[in-house]
Amino acid sequence: MKIENATQRFFPFSDAVSLRRSVPFFFSLSMETQRKLFLPLLFLSLFSTVGSSSIVDQAIRFRLAGGAAERSVPMRAGAPFKIALFADLHFGENAWTEWGPRQDVNSIRVMNTVLHLENPDFVIYLGDVITANNMMIANASLYWDQAISPARNRGIPWASVFGNHDDAAFEWPLEWFSAPGIPPIHCPQTTTSYNSGEEECSFKGTGRLELMANEIKHNGSFSSNGPRNLWPSVSNYVLQVSSPDDPPSPVAFLYFLDSGGGSYPQVISSGQVEWFQQKGQEINPDSRVPEIIFWHIPSTAYEVVAPKFAIQKPCIGSINKESVAAQEVEMGIMDLLVNRTSVKAIFVGHDHGLDWCCPYNKLWLCYARHTGYGGYGDWPRGARILEITQTPFSLKSWIRMEDGLVHSEVVLS
Ligand SMILES: *[C@@H]1O[C@H](CO)[C@@H](O)[C@H](O)[C@H]1NC(C)=O
Ligand SMILES: *[C@@H]1O[C@H](CO)[C@@H](O)[C@H](O)[C@H]1NC(C)=O
Ligand SMILES: *[C@@H]1O[C@H](CO)[C@@H](O)[C@H](O)[C@H]1NC(C)=O
Repeated sequence: MKIENATQRFFPFSDAVSLRRSVPFFFSLSMETQRKLFLPLLFLSLFSTVGSSSIVDQAIRFRLAGGAAERSVPMRAGAPFKIALFADLHFGENAWTEWGPRQDVNSIRVMNTVLHLENPDFVIYLGDVITANNMMIANASLYWDQAISPARNRGIPWASVFGNHDDAAFEWPLEWFSAPGIPPIHCPQTTTSYNSGEEECSFKGTGRLELMANEIKHNGSFSSNGPRNLWPSVSNYVLQVSSPDDPPSPVAFLYFLDSGGGSYPQVISSGQVEWFQQKGQEINPDSRVPEIIFWHIPSTAYEVVAPKFAIQKPCIGSINKESVAAQEVEMGIMDLLVNRTSVKAIFVGHDHGLDWCCPYNKLWLCYARHTGYGGYGDWPRGARILEITQTPFSLKSWIRMEDGLVHSEVVLS
């Protein structure tokens, strides 16, 4: 029921946006060509509203004639492509206290510091962007918007995946039922003309589809709702990092998967595995282009490679302060990824006290670094950085701390 409602709300108002979003190449064409293409594409987009966007997709595929249909992030000429991973920000945590909003300010500061020092080309929000189970308001996107604002304000494009807290149901704190009682609701500050009437400010969750629909309204977002048949698993999509050459060619594929949690189990389903397999076959049939994978909750394979005590070679990292809290069950994604020679590394968040990378067969299993002041743990905050170079291909990574320090440099490919 929830999904049905969200769907109906999403598609009508997002038409113009989704047209622009699904055809980024369109705006790179000359004005003359744009004029010629616009009406047919608009026509197709309107017709695809009720069913799916597949008509538009096919039109794009046809017009690209051989080029991949995935959204493409261009590399700058003569420079490596740098990505900052912001993991476990947990905006809106304990929103009713004075402590909570202060942590959000701190998290903004961490992100701004990292963006200033690293100047990345792209940002990935690696799940648990918000702590929805602490949110007293109807529209959690107001917190989500705060979390993405550092990238957005600098004009840096970004993409996101969901974690287990992003659409979690509101949990009534036990202490509200003792003497002080239920605190008054304060809606978060917003720059939009959002009307925080009493009804809007209530204890109601915001589902994955709504969160995503609100995020992708923003110009710089490269996120996607993913194929409808995978819902309630939503953040499943691929981006292509493209060379600056003419014509551009794929340098790497970035795969984003929703590892569940919150409103449904913590799992990557066999449906997602099948989707990955088909997608890989379609866009990278001979596994020639390197692939990098992002999701939030580690798979059980992380338990296999986890350092026992100190982090020793071949693992690289600086904190190993808790055990791996893996997905509930393995449904075949690791089997698939291990067999694909093109897959170089997987990046997850979730466990705030871990920041290592360890090899697993021919690929690397990596943690990001806890970036947010929200969420458990007091380990110093930072962000994992990835750097992709084109010829020859290489994938390097390091962790940039809030105090400016760099550590745990590693070559992953
Ligand atoms: C929730 O907030 C987002 C972000 O400001 C906004 O785009 C959206 O329209 C709001 N949704 C509702 C139902 O008010
Ligand atoms: C929004 O997108 C358009 C078209 O892709 C681009 O030209 C423009 O610079 C973007 N605006 C912002 C504020 O990023
Ligand atoms: C992966 O490779 C192994 C060994 O060749 C094979 O047994 C297994 O079926 C493969 N799994 C997938 C998902 O292709």
